[in-house]
Amino acid sequence: MAYLSSVFPGHFPAHGASPGWDGLPPERRFAEERSRCFAPAWQLAGHSQELRARGDYLTIELATTRALIVRDAARTRAFDNSCPNQPHALVMARRGKLAGAISCPLHRLSFALDGTPADPAASAPLVALELAVTGGLLCVAPAGAAAAPRFLPGGETGEPARVINETVEFSEHEVLADWKIAIEQLLLHRMPEHEVQGGVQNFGAPELASDPAGHQLRWRAVPGTDTNGTGADGAAWQRMYQWPNILLEWRPDGVSAIQVIPLTAGQSRWQCLEYAYRDPDARTQEQGARARAGRSEALRLDIDLASSTQRGLASPGYRASHQGSVPSGIAAFRQLLATQLR
Ligand code: FES
Repeated sequence: MAYLSSVFPGHFPAHGASPGWDGLPPERRFAEERSRCFAPAWQLAGHSQELRARGDYLTIELATTRALIVRDAARTRAFDNSCPNQPHALVMARRGKLAGAISCPLHRLSFALDGTPADPAASAPLVALELAVTGGLLCVAPAGAAAAPRFLPGGETGEPARVINETVEFSEHEVLADWKIAIEQLLLHRMPEHEVQGGVQNFGAPELASDPAGHQLRWRAVPGTDTNGTGADGAAWQRMYQWPNILLEWRPDGVSAIQVIPLTAGQSRWQCLEYAYRDPDARTQEQGARARAGRSEALRLDIDLASSTQRGLASPGYRASHQGSVPSGIAAFRQLLATQLR
């Protein structure tokens, strides 16, 4: 640190100095956020039912690792998806089927589906990641991570009873907004206060529960009238925010998630996953299709508002007026953030 602070004055704390958070340059703050908030976190990778047969795989680029999840005969495993010889991904596609081995596309260095070397040139196995299934969703974390979060509305772990359709929607959006602005925008739009005031969806009195130990916020509400196209059949929707970057929504027709990945200070990638249940009745299916259209519209709005907020913060003429109270979801997020960065 003493050396770095002499070579890059102002970018690293001088020996013995303890500068305030605000005094650090943005790239240093970003590095701290990534290592304190994201490196130990469990992250969403897909759904367990996407991997139905031997060789089926999923890949995903996360904040501090890229993950490859592979189904072997009876077991599913997760690895760091990096070639040992070059820092590129071993497997590039989001989803597919491996013919019995994991091979680098360049020199064909290969590994068995359990990660062990299948080539004399490979001197070590692939780096294993922790893998957990919670509410049917596949989550990965670095080896030795704390227990996985519980995603199901009742807090159960493992597989859900419902079967999902094979058609899965996965999309990624690069957004010119910092991950913190992205999360605040999503919480503002999707947690209670906004819904009460008439958001994209229309719900009756929502209930918000906070679980500080599990780093979660849970929201439960029943759709109101049919004006939003989702019907009023009395079935509750549940939304959940999982620290630091996952928003989940459970509905009668399926489950969807948005995961915000920090790319740089001021830029993030939003990963959107949509799973529809295979067997809902015709009415629920129709409501699901209409709600899906509403979700795309809401996502577009959230991306536009988050990018615009980022530009607004950078504008020298902008002064926040601090009118009104901070919504409860955002207050809870700021509290968690402050605890991690203390
Ligand atoms: S670059 Fe991957 S094995 Fe050579």
